[in-house]
Amino acid sequence: MEKIKETYKLQLAKFKAQKKNQRRLWNISEKCAELLFMLIQAKRPKRILEIGTSNGYSTFWLSLAAESCGAVIDTIEIDESRFKLAKENLKELSNIVQHVGKAEFIIPELNNKYDFVFIDAGKIDYIIYLKLLLEKLKNNALIVADNVISHEDTVKEYLDFINSDLRFVSMTLPLEAGLEISVFRRKV
Ligand SMILES: C[S@@+](CC[C@H](N)C(=O)[O-])C[C@H]1O[C@@H](n2cnc3c(N)ncnc32)[C@H](O)[C@@H]1O
Repeated sequence: MEKIKETYKLQLAKFKAQKKNQRRLWNISEKCAELLFMLIQAKRPKRILEIGTSNGYSTFWLSLAAESCGAVIDTIEIDESRFKLAKENLKELSNIVQHVGKAEFIIPELNNKYDFVFIDAGKIDYIIYLKLLLEKLKNNALIVADNVISHEDTVKEYLDFINSDLRFVSMTLPLEAGLEISVFRRKV
């Protein structure tokens, strides 16, 4: 991981400065970014969906990991100014398709099947994103949802659903704000 950070140290320093100087970016921690990177390297997905781009910090890490398996990332951001900032931050990366708008409206329009999903947008809406996604998940898709400990009450419906639906196997990883890591099995 240190080698990767060394290679991309200029871009990473830019993200660090943005986080320091700008409020409301809510980037995941470096540790979570590294975990996402490792999960993608192990899973080797073909199509990744991220809900909640912000300025593109997590997208940047998804993109680096995706390069090694030729995956493409769709990422959705509702806020126009953060969408534009991400566009600028990610302009040199060719495996990212950015979407601006409400995920609830964009997900139904996506004509792809996903084998890796990272959910990090409106916490109360996690359950809506998930239900919209069910038809678009590949067998054995991996879904990672952030903030499930910090926003435990708000994401309760999401956790209840994922823990009671037999198609999912799931566990909460107590890393930073809490990550729910779930595998979707189309055929139980
Ligand atoms: C926690 S931040 C994402 C941080 C980003 N994943 C990172 O680590 O760099 C959540 C983002 O989701 C966006 N968001 C909130 N509700 C949304 C929705 N319904 N559709 C799309 N984006 C949404 C917010 O504008 C915000 O930029």
